[in-house]
Amino acid sequence: QENTFQTIISHAKEYGFVFPSSEIYDGLSAVYDYGPYGSELKKNIRDYWWKSMTQMHDNIVGLDAAIFMHPTTWKASGHVDSFSDPMIDNKDSNKRYRVDHLIEGFADKLTEKGEKERADKLVEEMNQLLAKEDFASLKDLIVTNNIKCEVSGTTNWTDIRQFNLMFKTEIGSVADATNTLYLRPETAQGIFVNFLNVQKSARMKIPFGIAQTGKAFRNEIVARQFIFRMREFEQMEMQFFVRPGTELEWFEKWKTERLAWHQSLGIPAEKEHFLPHIKLAHYANAAVDIEYEFSFGFKELEGIHSRTDFDLKRHQEFSGKKMMYFDPEINQSYIPYVIETSIGLDRMFLAILSNAYEEQTINKEDGSTDSRVVLHISPKISPIKLAIFPLTKKDGLPEIAKGILDDCKRSFRCYYEEKDAIGKRYRRQDAIGTPFCITIDHQTKEDNMVTIRHRDSMTQERIAIADIKKIILAEII
Ligand code: GAP
Repeated sequence: QENTFQTIISHAKEYGFVFPSSEIYDGLSAVYDYGPYGSELKKNIRDYWWKSMTQMHDNIVGLDAAIFMHPTTWKASGHVDSFSDPMIDNKDSNKRYRVDHLIEGFADKLTEKGEKERADKLVEEMNQLLAKEDFASLKDLIVTNNIKCEVSGTTNWTDIRQFNLMFKTEIGSVADATNTLYLRPETAQGIFVNFLNVQKSARMKIPFGIAQTGKAFRNEIVARQFIFRMREFEQMEMQFFVRPGTELEWFEKWKTERLAWHQSLGIPAEKEHFLPHIKLAHYANAAVDIEYEFSFGFKELEGIHSRTDFDLKRHQEFSGKKMMYFDPEINQSYIPYVIETSIGLDRMFLAILSNAYEEQTINKEDGSTDSRVVLHISPKISPIKLAIFPLTKKDGLPEIAKGILDDCKRSFRCYYEEKDAIGKRYRRQDAIGTPFCITIDHQTKEDNMVTIRHRDSMTQERIAIADIKKIILAEII
């Protein structure tokens, strides 16, 4: 499993999807850059989400709020007081751990050794102590189970402390506490503080939603697992405002709709499941995660939360501005309830990449075998839609190919290549997930037809040049 994951990380780097940030300086922990194909894929996932939320729903509109927000926002939202993880330091290695990750990691090892019962009991006990914030007993749990630091193997721990995950910075030139700003740890608050601006300016009637994508920042304690847990990441969030009392009905609707969205991108049903939150956050009256089965187990990909009127009420309280909506249908004013769908763009990217990656052995007609690495990415979001190859560099074939490129590139992302044997060119496109390649050969000059090759089946057929755009467009929308 570890191998599979390492293979995907190497592939992502080699083929220009994801690079460690500032790599020439040995990288920055849990920060990553997206390369030529990664940035296309990421943009395509974001656009697909945006379209499915806004264009496909008459009652959802978009927003692009700033990363910096008034500091009181984070007092009202509860992040200043409680957006923290309990952590513990190992005194010998100077390594810091999130308590739940440390204990869960140990429990995983117990399970591997066949002690599943003990592992389950340990995790259950941990959850109870975390819920009670009983840090002394949690530390006892670590000590009595002889949980070791993975680096130096010692058991010499500090006490457990809360560690706030928000990054701080300052506005203006005078450093004083009142100038402290936070980098937003979620995009959702930009939606809440703009609730009335959006509702009034776009003349929205409840039920309606506000969708937003953008960067969020968290000073994660354990930041491993590649782009699964990053310190700078991107969220795609939608807050759906509803009449109080109807929220659980909408919660169910959004659960169904979000799962269907994942499947529309080719994620198989058996690779995802809902995990209801056992311990609800203080603002929620229902919450569920959509988990995807990564090579390191089922992990959270998206959260769907029924957030009640908590956020709007708190902003009303802290700002002194009314956050009420007048509902003409029932002739009443109220603070709306909210269903939130929140997905990490980078995590979805990782799920898409993990699900798409395949090392295939190909049995050839002459009895020999060949192999290829192929990314089965849905054509709707693949970085490149069409690769265009003249069979040779001469006899006018490149001119015809470039004519096709000029015609198609206004409609979708194409790639032109005239070097190397055709088989090698196909392999490179397979490795970045290009769903269609066309080859222009000498016959093309006679009949105005090209060979189209399909990535997944590797089948080939002749199609008219005049039909290329229509055929590709039908597959990518
Ligand atoms: N507004 C609700 C909210 O932020 P969350 O469960 O903390 O809820 C939502 O985050 C989603 O954001 C997660 O399901 C995950 O996909 C993504 N996410 C959270 N922390 C992340 C991190 N450190 N790196 C990458 N993605 C992250």
